[in-house]
Amino acid sequence: MINNPIIDINNLNWSYNGTKVLDNISLNIKPGTFTGILGPNGAGKTTLLKTILNLLQPDRNSILISNDDIRNYSRNELAKIEAYVPQSSKNNFNFTVEQIVLMGRSPFLGRFDRESNDDIGIADWAMKETGVFGLKNKYITTLSGGELQRTIIARALTQEPAILALDEPTSHLDIHHQINILSIVRSLAKKKSLTIIAVLHDINHALEYCDNLFLLNHGKIVTHGSPEDVITPDIMKKIYNLNIQITTNPLTGNLFMIHDYT
Ligand SMILES: Nc1ncnc2c1ncn2[C@@H]1O[C@H](COP(=O)(O)OP(=O)(O)OP(=O)(O)O)[C@@H](O)[C@H]1O
Ligand SMILES: [Mg+2]
Repeated sequence: MINNPIIDINNLNWSYNGTKVLDNISLNIKPGTFTGILGPNGAGKTTLLKTILNLLQPDRNSILISNDDIRNYSRNELAKIEAYVPQSSKNNFNFTVEQIVLMGRSPFLGRFDRESNDDIGIADWAMKETGVFGLKNKYITTLSGGELQRTIIARALTQEPAILALDEPTSHLDIHHQINILSIVRSLAKKKSLTIIAVLHDINHALEYCDNLFLLNHGKIVTHGSPEDVITPDIMKKIYNLNIQITTNPLTGNLFMIHDYT
């Protein structure tokens, strides 16, 4: 058992209209760790994240956040703890990048409060880290896909959460920004004990950045543990029908997966 897990899931089940998509999931996540959720399309990864964010409500006591049933938290209490970067974001409201990012402070403000200089400082920091500061006065309806994704990540960082849940956070990003975003969140995990839980499809990103991995298939955890334990030729063949080898990346010294194209 993990000491003091920040997220503790016990026998979690979820069905949409009678179809089971999460099947008896149990897992623990320690504060300050970077956890990757892997698995094929439709495995249940986004559904799992939504339960951890209380956007879907499974049975009582299946999800504990800091030892308390997630359903005992108010929406505002939870917004001070957890931030969410969804798999895709709608951008049909005409706000500027800065206005969207500052919304990350709203759980901390009273109804009629304006943002303080501290709040603006946090938003400026998040926009600089994610490379959208130069776009702060641009309307979000006019952003590219990657610029919008980085804006939503900046808003989540501005929330200064204890838990940051990211659903395919690099799906729209060029390779420079993919590495930049994953490096920022990893360093926040280490420096500020931020707990990262990220759905990733890129196995090499998982090998490079994650402390722990959970591999989901058909709503069940197939395997979990260190990247080394989870990403094996047998498991990759079984789950993705992929022939792989694990090697070492000579530039980083970390594990690296290569695969064939047949
Ligand atoms: N609102 C919904 N109503 C009914 N079925 C749903 C709903 N949302 C998801 N599903 C189904 O639940 C299963 C799991 O979906 P989920 O979005 O969690 O998968 P995922 O692992 O995130 O996949 P992907 O890699 O494609 O994002 C899928 O079979 C999906 O069709
Ligand atoms: Mg998904």
